[in-house]
Amino acid sequence: MQLFTNILSHLKDQNRYRSLNLPNGIDLTSNDYLGMAVHPLLRESAIKALENGIDIGAAGSRLLRGHTSHHAKLEKFACTYFNAPKTLFFANGFIANYALFTALPDRHDVILYDALIHASVREGMRASNAKSFKFAHNDIDALENLLNKHKGNHIWIAIESIYSMDGDRAALQDVYNLIKRYGNATLIIDEAHATGIYGTNGKGLAYDIICKHGYDNIITLHTCGKAIGVAGGLVCADANIIDYMINKSRPFIYSTAPMPLQALLVQKSLEVLDSDDGQKRRGKLLSLCSKAQKLFGGAGSQIVPIILGEDEKAMRVASAMQDKGYDIRAIRPPTVPQGSARLRLSLSSNLDEDILQNFADALKTL
Ligand SMILES: Cc1ncc(COP(=O)(O)O)c(C=O)c1O
Repeated sequence: MQLFTNILSHLKDQNRYRSLNLPNGIDLTSNDYLGMAVHPLLRESAIKALENGIDIGAAGSRLLRGHTSHHAKLEKFACTYFNAPKTLFFANGFIANYALFTALPDRHDVILYDALIHASVREGMRASNAKSFKFAHNDIDALENLLNKHKGNHIWIAIESIYSMDGDRAALQDVYNLIKRYGNATLIIDEAHATGIYGTNGKGLAYDIICKHGYDNIITLHTCGKAIGVAGGLVCADANIIDYMINKSRPFIYSTAPMPLQALLVQKSLEVLDSDDGQKRRGKLLSLCSKAQKLFGGAGSQIVPIILGEDEKAMRVASAMQDKGYDIRAIRPPTVPQGSARLRLSLSSNLDEDILQNFADALKTL
């Protein structure tokens, strides 16, 4: 136990200690970008499903009795929604990424990943039998060099369509053109922070490319705990890829299925996001994004990094802003690169525009 005490005290000395804090103040932190986590229609659907006797637990792996009509209905619905041949629902996005990267690349394959890729992909790569190589963030030339270098292998490329801590976009079309040229490569696009917001009716930034070219060399992941407001991860891919995951992915096979209610609510949320209500929420969020970009810079998405540099400074500013009634948290390494500790301002369509201005004014006075 002494070892852990020492490590924890070292983390405290470095301003890297993490602790759990309940939400408090105006939400400038959550990923509930479209307010779906508190949507009355979703609440109503949950109550109705419970009143109608939906089972609470799935009570088994999907491959045993845990596969319910709600999971099946969601996956069928998601096929139409994301124009995918087949989809597979996981309990969360982390495990979906882990499942993809541990199951698909074999030991002769190579994974190329963006330097800012999410921890869930990193964990999957770490446990994979394939070798993995990093390319500089959004650097197409660096990616092309690596593709040339590993031409003889099947290559899996891991990118996000909107990066989780910087809020900037991948050049999806350029990456897609590149991998088409190389042939022997599959692009895995994590749409975690794009789903619900960007692309046609919020179907993700890869949606248009997919509608044109199909899923032959693309796999997408739509996490369901951010703009969708529920929880889960929907993998969209060619039918053979999904069937392979069902047969080979250990997190899928050896785990209890997500609660049926979770699947039902994800579907309900997608329906809302495809409606006028969803469109309105996207419109409101996008106008907040422009306002925030004018005030704080950044890439113009709903994720606005306010980079402060040192960990101690980020902690100090976050704490002072929390005292002023804003729920904003400091993000420190290893989540972000050394020297780029920051406030991660996260916008939601539920937010009033005035709050952004007040927040900016309060920040300036610090
Ligand atoms: C880019 C990205 N991928 C995957 C995940 C994991 O998704 P989930 O929160 O559903 O586990 C996250 C969560 O922060 C993320 O930012």
